Amino acid sequence: MSRILTQNLVPGMITAEDVYSYNNQLIIAKDTPLTDKAITKLEFYSVLSIRIKDDQENVDVEIPYQVDPDAIYSDKVKNSPEFKRFKKEFNESLLSFKDSVNDLILKQKIDTESLLEKTNAMLGNNPTGIHVFDMLHNMREFDDPTYAHCLNVALICNVFGKWLGMPAEEVRLLTLCGMLHDVGKLRIPENIISHPGKLSDEEYSIIKTHALEGFNILKNLDLNDHIKNCALMHHERCDGSGYPFGLTSNKIDRYAKIVAIADVYDAMTSPRVYRSQLCPFKVIEIFESEGLQKYDPEFILVFLEYVVNTYMNNRVRLSNGLEGDVVLINKLCLARPMIRCGNHYIDLSRDKKISIEAII
Ligand SMILES: [Fe+2]
Ligand SMILES: [Fe+2]
Repeated sequence: MSRILTQNLVPGMITAEDVYSYNNQLIIAKDTPLTDKAITKLEFYSVLSIRIKDDQENVDVEIPYQVDPDAIYSDKVKNSPEFKRFKKEFNESLLSFKDSVNDLILKQKIDTESLLEKTNAMLGNNPTGIHVFDMLHNMREFDDPTYAHCLNVALICNVFGKWLGMPAEEVRLLTLCGMLHDVGKLRIPENIISHPGKLSDEEYSIIKTHALEGFNILKNLDLNDHIKNCALMHHERCDGSGYPFGLTSNKIDRYAKIVAIADVYDAMTSPRVYRSQLCPFKVIEIFESEGLQKYDPEFILVFLEYVVNTYMNNRVRLSNGLEGDVVLINKLCLARPMIRCGNHYIDLSRDKKISIEAII
């Protein structure tokens, strides 16, 4: 049996034990071959690593990008001028973000103004067109996933804050919260954080200390308390199933509740070695089927609804092979909108056998 970080799992690996959530709900049974959906579900439950059967670390992955059902849409995003500009700015931001975080850790000082300046410039240049989430999730070539993830979460938070109707000052604060939420991971040795193979139980528990580590890094700095609380509480869940303290909804900082959603959405949709971006409708389906009670309804419902709305009128491929356009969103069943295929309409909320496979 080997313990493998969720981010390094690939479809085909076989579970060596039952996998439970933090509040003891069975997620995947022993001896189950992992699928893409199962791995995404583990991200949903914030399961950091699982045990898989031996000799499975190098399981053959036979899903090359060409047969990836999302590849067409991904290519469309990647070839757009907006994406090329965004990518350049993202890489520049990443460099200055790294410098700022190094200053923060070594010199205990941080310039929040310059941190925000870059993200605002990035988002300001993309008022319409391809959605910022699609651009984020089409960038895969990072050698330091922690920094890129923090910047992703910051950008998602920025968009999310606007969806929530927050005033500009609060959106700025929320963006900083997203940017610094995982700063504690930088105190975890690099060989543990990006460990591609086996992980010992001790290493596993070290990773979980990043929330407290992050708080300790920030606690004496002249920063808004919400930023410090986000580092500490972004893995807490409203139903008490999170860590480090298992806090329930009324004890969790509201900014941390928002960052938690941006964080898990980024983890679930991030490109992996074996696949391109995961179809957002599949991610939303997991949120709806696994239960929304981990997140504050005030935030999660707005988030999912806006994400779905960005795909209104988009062309999609269905699991029955047909292609059509998203024409009507069903608020009670966000992952299953009404699709127009030529002259007829398919209401996915009624026809449960059909689902959206990909955005094309
Ligand atoms: Fe984290
Ligand atoms: Fe995170």
